[in-house]
Amino acid sequence: MEKRDLFGSRLGVLLALAGSAVGLGNLWRFPYLVGSNGGAMFIILYLFFVFIICLPLMFTEFVIGRRSHANVFGAFRSLSSDKKSLWSKIGFISVLCSFTILSFYSVVGGWTIDYLVRSCMFQFHVNSDYSEMFNLSTQVAWRPLLFTAIFLILTGLVVRMGVKDGIEKFTKVMMPILFLMVILVAIRSVTLPGAGEGLRFLFKPDFSKLTATTVLSAMGQAFFSLSIGCGTIITYASYVNKSENIMKTSSYTALMDLGFALLAGMAIMPAVFAFGQSPTEGPGLVFIIIPQIFAQIPFGSILAILFFFILFFAAITSSISLLEVVVAYLIEEFEMVRRKAVFISFTAVCVVAILCSLSLGPLQEFKIAGFAIFDFLDKLSANILLPAGGLLFVLFAGWRMPDQDYINELTNEGTLPVNRFLLKAVRFIVKYVAPIIILLILITGFVI
Ligand code: TRP
Repeated sequence: MEKRDLFGSRLGVLLALAGSAVGLGNLWRFPYLVGSNGGAMFIILYLFFVFIICLPLMFTEFVIGRRSHANVFGAFRSLSSDKKSLWSKIGFISVLCSFTILSFYSVVGGWTIDYLVRSCMFQFHVNSDYSEMFNLSTQVAWRPLLFTAIFLILTGLVVRMGVKDGIEKFTKVMMPILFLMVILVAIRSVTLPGAGEGLRFLFKPDFSKLTATTVLSAMGQAFFSLSIGCGTIITYASYVNKSENIMKTSSYTALMDLGFALLAGMAIMPAVFAFGQSPTEGPGLVFIIIPQIFAQIPFGSILAILFFFILFFAAITSSISLLEVVVAYLIEEFEMVRRKAVFISFTAVCVVAILCSLSLGPLQEFKIAGFAIFDFLDKLSANILLPAGGLLFVLFAGWRMPDQDYINELTNEGTLPVNRFLLKAVRFIVKYVAPIIILLILITGFVI
């Protein structure tokens, strides 16, 4: 079997995790969900889920991955005392879930390339019809298919290069530039005439917007944005050495991710109101608003190129982490070489991604549970599969793993000075709070 790779440096680990977390979830999905779910109320719920549920879950995935040094399937098998129990097999759900997410994620990744090309051709003008442009990019079949394929090929190539040379080097340079770019766009957006209404929408909660669907979407988005619930963190953590401080690294990752999401909200929402658009536009929101902002900025056409270039990078560092879950599974469980594992998973994802993309154009009429395939997979994975996966993870770590093992892994066998009260609180959340809350919300989401 291939020798397992390890990340080369501490900064590399952090940036790879942040690279996985920060992506289209922050810049595309978060703003459009905030828009469709009533603004500030959604953000408050989101904050609650990030800190109370998802951060402890991130610790937990980290513990599972680093303790086992195995792919997500192997991790649960090796940590299960009874190798025949169902617990030893739950990793398989994660592999499927990563696969599902990657299928629609790569379609949106394709749009980012399309918009990069558009910006290079200087197509964003003050008077352009941006909704029409978005429809062209997503509905006219060959175009999204072509760009989705390019996006997937690039993802596959990086994953083929392996953890250290591919993933780590890639992320290091791009994250800081992306951060600066989003700040820049946010500044322009909040200084547009009429932006105040957008800021109020973002920060002044309207409690009548509190519904079961909003709660479920906010929870799903917290999982999605932090890459929690389908073994991405488990897989990456399995490449991390034993001296890494799990709680610190996870907390930094979560904060960075949150910062990006809030900034993206501030970049988009004020402009939505200033341009007189509707915040409930849905998945097209970012692609319709961002080019309009750039059309109004000095040197906007150059900055737009930079922005879409980096958006594409943010997307690909996340899709890499999704593909790596599947690839690591194939390599270790079926003794494949990396090249072959990448090829097989790439081909399989392509098939589903094509269906997803066509479901926005020629296959629009084909619905599953009332949704087009694209929307169905998006909602299914974020709102149901990820929380359900997370639920299994906390149940496993809370009730199958001895308290002491969990704490030992979190504190590097007791060598890290972590506050004992904090450790107890984390353990309590993992055992009781997280499972109960996730379960309750999943059930109410289903019933209503
Ligand atoms: N978190 C990424 C984003 O915000 C997407 C992503 C990568 C993801 N890996 C994941 C989502 C695992 C859920 C689970 O764009």
